[in-house]
Amino acid sequence: MRRIATVAELRAVLDAERAAGHRVGFVPTMGYLHEGHVSLMRAARAEADVVVTSIFVNPLQFAAHEDLDDYPRDLERDASLAEGAGVDLLFVPSVAEMYPDPVPGGLLATTVSVAGVSEHMEGASRPTHFAGVATVVAKLFSIVGPCRAYFGEKDFQQLAVVRRMVADLSMPVEVVGCETVREDDGLAMSSRNAYLSPEQRAAAPVVHRALRAGAAAVLAGEREPGAVRAAIAGVVAQEPLAELDYAEVVRVSDLTVPSAIDPTDALGLRLLAAVRFGSTRLIDNLGVTAPAPCATESTAAPTVRS
Ligand code: PAF
Repeated sequence: MRRIATVAELRAVLDAERAAGHRVGFVPTMGYLHEGHVSLMRAARAEADVVVTSIFVNPLQFAAHEDLDDYPRDLERDASLAEGAGVDLLFVPSVAEMYPDPVPGGLLATTVSVAGVSEHMEGASRPTHFAGVATVVAKLFSIVGPCRAYFGEKDFQQLAVVRRMVADLSMPVEVVGCETVREDDGLAMSSRNAYLSPEQRAAAPVVHRALRAGAAAVLAGEREPGAVRAAIAGVVAQEPLAELDYAEVVRVSDLTVPSAIDPTDALGLRLLAAVRFGSTRLIDNLGVTAPAPCATESTAAPTVRS
C-alpha cells in the first residue's frame, strides 16, 4: 500500500490508473478505522482494480463546541487495517493540503450545501455539519475523479446527502451504500464508541433495541409515525444512562416524514435515532418494509434491514 499526502500525486496516480482502463474504488473516512470501514474497503476491493481510502479528520464538519481536537486518531493502526483490507492507496492529506487558502471566517470560500435532506434530524441537531460533509466529499470526489465510492448506511442521512449532491451536480461517481456492521450485542460500530465509559458501553445497545422496537411496531401494522417514534423513545427511556436526542421515521426515497406509513411503498421506511450517553452522541438506523394489508405470499415479506 502506498501512502500519498498530496492532491497532485493522488490525481496523477489515479489518472494513470484510469488511462490504463482500471476501475477506481474509493472509501472516504476520518480514520480510527473499525470493522465497518473495513467492510467498505473489502466491498471496494471486490469490485475495483485500484482501491483508494482517504483518512482526513475534516474540520469543516465539526461545530466549534464539538470534538475535533479530541477525535480519536491512530494512523499506524489505520494503515495496517487498510492494508489488510486490500487498499492500494492511502490518501492522508494535512489540513493545509486540503484547505491551503483560508478566507476570513473560514477554511474555504466555497461551500456545498444540500437543501431538504440535510435539514432535519442530524441537520437540526448539528446545523453546520452536512455542509461540512458535502463540501469535503465534493472536494475528495474532485481529487479522486471518476470512481465508485463506498459509504456506510450507519450514517444514513449522510449517505442521502451525498447521493443527492452527486445527482444534482452530475458528479462522475457511483455511490454505493453498505450495510451497518454491528457488535455482537447490536451496537453499530462507530469511531465514537471509543469515547464510551464501560458503563455507557454496556448501556449503548439500547439504541439498536429501541429501533428494533420501532420496527416491530411497523411490522405489527402500526401506521402512525408518532406511535413508532414513541415506541423507540419508550425503550430509550428505560435506560438511565441514555438520553434521546431524536427518533424519526422517514421514507427511504427522500427522507421525508410520512403523515401515515404506507405499506405499498416498496422502498420502505428508515427508522433513525440519535442518543446521548453523557457527552457522547451515537446515531443508528434500521430499515423496515411494512407488511402489505392484503399481500400475497410473494409480496408479503416484511423486512428489517440493519
Ligand atoms: O463518514 C465520515 O467518516 C465522514 O463524514 C466523511 C464522509 C469521510 C467526510 O469527512
